[in-house]
Amino acid sequence: MVFRQLFDSVSCTYSYLLAGRGGGEALIIDPVLDKVDRYLQLMRELDLRLVKAVDTHLHADHITGLGALRDRTQCITVMGERSRVDVVSMRVTDGDRLQVEGIELEVIYTPGHTDDSCSFRMADRVFTGDTLLIRGTGRTDFQNGDARAQYESIFGRLLRLPDETLVYPGHDYKGDTVSTIGEERRCNPRLQVKSIDEYVELMHNLKLANPKMMDVAVPANMKVGLQQQEIARRGWATTAEEALGIIGQPDVVLIDLRERAERERHGTIPGSVHVPYPTLPESTSAGGMLYVLAKSAGKRLLFYCAFGERSAMAVQAAQDAGLRACCHLNGGLAAWKAAGGPIVQ
Ligand SMILES: [Fe+2]
Repeated sequence: MVFRQLFDSVSCTYSYLLAGRGGGEALIIDPVLDKVDRYLQLMRELDLRLVKAVDTHLHADHITGLGALRDRTQCITVMGERSRVDVVSMRVTDGDRLQVEGIELEVIYTPGHTDDSCSFRMADRVFTGDTLLIRGTGRTDFQNGDARAQYESIFGRLLRLPDETLVYPGHDYKGDTVSTIGEERRCNPRLQVKSIDEYVELMHNLKLANPKMMDVAVPANMKVGLQQQEIARRGWATTAEEALGIIGQPDVVLIDLRERAERERHGTIPGSVHVPYPTLPESTSAGGMLYVLAKSAGKRLLFYCAFGERSAMAVQAAQDAGLRACCHLNGGLAAWKAAGGPIVQ
């Protein structure tokens, strides 16, 4: 396994690069915009292909690297279902499993620091974002923070993990890099409370100044969505209303780029073919399924995903691979549902 804890000294943020093996698919947690060149260099050196970039929550103290990594690697951006960002490729919720080759993260919804905070558990360790820090906990006084919810997230969820579980936080300001659940239960001063009310009282009396970057970072981090106008300008976008008129036509094939779990949870457009986004390079190259459909069978490909990000990148990749008769569903399944499009479960 490849596991790298990377540090941004300006915001004291930890980012984590994970992969099942050298030469395989990689996932990064909480990347920082200023460090994107460094991550890309490291991934080249380790021969890793970035497939997913994940933020544990909407950050207030640094600008996320999610958008830049997507633009430069065509990776899938992931955040919690409750995040107020404009667009990410995939939204996850409690109990979901986030996968890349050889790696599986279990999503634990842990609101409190913000209402979109998630932790991610992988085998012997948990990435706690700003919910549980080493000898501290994330502040709860802005961005829909809620000390009561945080108490439940920490005492009701994280501290129920085995004591030996390694804790990898989103930040550290003292130089610590890792702890364990048992160690935090015993030694974290914020957790030595006798009741939820005592915790809430403690958190309400911290009187912290706002993060220096907050006024810049929060608005920037809410607008990470892919600029899809260029795709539309080239005539490669179809609105949900237009798509309603053309599905069922014999020369059109709908291609669902989402993962199996997303299909099971949110349903699919009737008659669509499943081609998960990460398999696109092989599917669009000579002999691949999409290549054959488009080139030999003369079909028009209509890509869709959850919100239109993966499909916008897919249409570009397909066009680059020489598959000209393809477009994507603007706004994805969310727009389709809003337009009253039929769904099968
Ligand atoms: Fe935070």
